[in-house]
Amino acid sequence: MTDKEKQSGKSTEGMLDYNENSSAQLQLVRLLSPLVRELVHSMDAPCAEFKIVDYGCGPGVNSIEMVKPAIEACLEKFSDTPIVVCHSDQVGNDWNTLFELVSGSDGYAHIAKGIRTEAAIGSFYDQVTSSETVSIGTCIFASHWLSQGIQLDSAGTVWFADLLSDARRIVDRIAQKDWTQFLLQRALEIRAGGFLVVGTLGSVPDTSEKNGIAASGRGIYRAIYVVAQTMAEDGLISSESLESFLFSLWFMTEAEARHTLVKNPELKTAFEIYRISVEPSPTKASDIFEDHIQEPGTYAEKYVGYIRAFGDSTLRTHLFGSNSVNSEHLDQLMTEFYNRLAHLYESETNKYACEVWHLVVVLRRK
Ligand SMILES: C[S@@+](CC[C@H](N)C(=O)[O-])C[C@H]1O[C@@H](n2cnc3c(N)ncnc32)[C@H](O)[C@@H]1O
Repeated sequence: MTDKEKQSGKSTEGMLDYNENSSAQLQLVRLLSPLVRELVHSMDAPCAEFKIVDYGCGPGVNSIEMVKPAIEACLEKFSDTPIVVCHSDQVGNDWNTLFELVSGSDGYAHIAKGIRTEAAIGSFYDQVTSSETVSIGTCIFASHWLSQGIQLDSAGTVWFADLLSDARRIVDRIAQKDWTQFLLQRALEIRAGGFLVVGTLGSVPDTSEKNGIAASGRGIYRAIYVVAQTMAEDGLISSESLESFLFSLWFMTEAEARHTLVKNPELKTAFEIYRISVEPSPTKASDIFEDHIQEPGTYAEKYVGYIRAFGDSTLRTHLFGSNSVNSEHLDQLMTEFYNRLAHLYESETNKYACEVWHLVVVLRRK
């Protein structure tokens, strides 16, 4: 294990091959683009610059595609206003890839002269940019990551949706506190009349599930548990480490997303709710890789790539790291895990498909 991995308490860091394995995120970006355009057109002119912030921007492609409609609409509506694009993420983000893409052929630097690009490095659970300066903030597939790594008795599962009793209540409280904190920080940063657009994975009521909700991605988190359990049974990792490992995330229902906005006095004063919805993704809602179902090898490869892109750092740091004696051993455990995962998807195909419900929250700063 490297020092960096040992020291990291963050829930995400160093997402792998992200641009190649984030088509589900890009789909939501495309879905929200007309809305972002419409919101910018409905705004009053900013005092000085028109500032766009993409929170939890990741390494590139999707962040660029998310800010483009805001830039284009700003040029249409406020032609002579200087534009600032701020990409915000944690220190471990792949900033070099991002900035290469900004000025590349599919980037936005060439859309107009003088677009200034900034990075704000830090956690979006803190204030990351100056007060009352942001005209539009976006946050795609990021706000579901909680503010801290969590270890508790999570026997039988690796994620929030299958937790029971006290464990679920503890993580629920952290998730509600984090969502409130995220919104309070944005209330400081967004100018009067500006907008916040959050698009992420959501959950819907479902009485057939043990906690009464069906959460996006339930198949893949259950697949991860099944595979890790076979490794515990084969003595490759300890059962104790698996039974206390949890992905630090929470996919809210519409009611959960709304709750703090109507109950917290500061948020109620700060924001007008423009939209809160959880809806099935308009395409591939029941299986993000359904196009490949006829070729089990490719289907498995796609799922392993997707899981690796968002989950590798968490799995390394918080599960397999404590079961390895050195970095070589850790790499072997990771390889074994992905081989077993590929085998599971190849043999069971869509039993562990990733379903997607989009949670969209749009708020106007009063
Ligand atoms: C799945 S990626 C999404 C990236 C991009 N928005 C997209 O749509 O492709 C999640 C991103 O959220 C970032 N993230 C997670 N927790 C964060 C936090 N507390 N503060 C800032 N960024 C965070 C991660 O570093 C990662 O880049």
